[in-house]
Amino acid sequence: MPTNRKKTPQPSPLDRWSGIPLYHQIQQRLMDQIESGKLKPGEPLPSIHRIAAQMGVSQMTVRQAVKSLCNMGVIYSRQGKGTFISGIKMMERDFRQVLSFSEEMKARGAKPHSELLSLNIQMPSQETREALALGENDKVFCLRRVRFADSLPMGIESSCLPVHLCPDLLETYDPSTSLYQVLTEKYGILVTVTDEVIEVGKASAEDVRYLQLAPKSPIFLFTRVSYLENGMPAEHAKSSYRGDRYRIVNRLMRTKR
Ligand code: GLP
Repeated sequence: MPTNRKKTPQPSPLDRWSGIPLYHQIQQRLMDQIESGKLKPGEPLPSIHRIAAQMGVSQMTVRQAVKSLCNMGVIYSRQGKGTFISGIKMMERDFRQVLSFSEEMKARGAKPHSELLSLNIQMPSQETREALALGENDKVFCLRRVRFADSLPMGIESSCLPVHLCPDLLETYDPSTSLYQVLTEKYGILVTVTDEVIEVGKASAEDVRYLQLAPKSPIFLFTRVSYLENGMPAEHAKSSYRGDRYRIVNRLMRTKR
């Protein structure tokens, strides 16, 4: 007998030959459902048993995906109640104003925090020397950090600044705090203009490690040259940001001729 009852659409099977771990594929499927609004903030995540049955994988694999989504803050567990979708949204990278990472995260209601990878004074690369218009013997202060929004790793930033702009930064700077804030408060340096080039790339081994990404995940690569009000270059920065946590927002204006 014909029936009007609609069948629940079955998710397409996971790709077992892609080289991408199954738990990561499941994680991505769940992320897609959250981003598309199919799973809404506050709603419970389907049970591990159900997801495993739907996707044809073991419960252990699903548990691994769920654990990793919990670590990313996309879902959260309540003891005795289950796992729920959190309200954390993708970050939007706003091109309409010059903001530091800390300012940007705070504006979005997240707490910025950093993990130091390295901090030193060194001779600049040719590219940095040219970007900062430095002389043959000028050294740069180099800072590399993993940047977090709350506990979520967002990107790896590498910044180089001319030593003559901030001579004792190495001794006095606490890398867990905002670089731009220290530059302003201690050295009177205010970044007012930045030139940025954005490219799309694949996660490097370092990105995979520190940003908790699957190999070859898409990332945004930013190259920034920051300038002071008088036009002097103050920072040459190269950063990689997670492609799944950023969206580029831009405003274009027609200039009067
Ligand atoms: C942005 C820029 C970086 C800059 C950083 C400073 O993310 N892309 O080039 O170094 O802000 O951020 P904070 O002041 O939070 O250390």
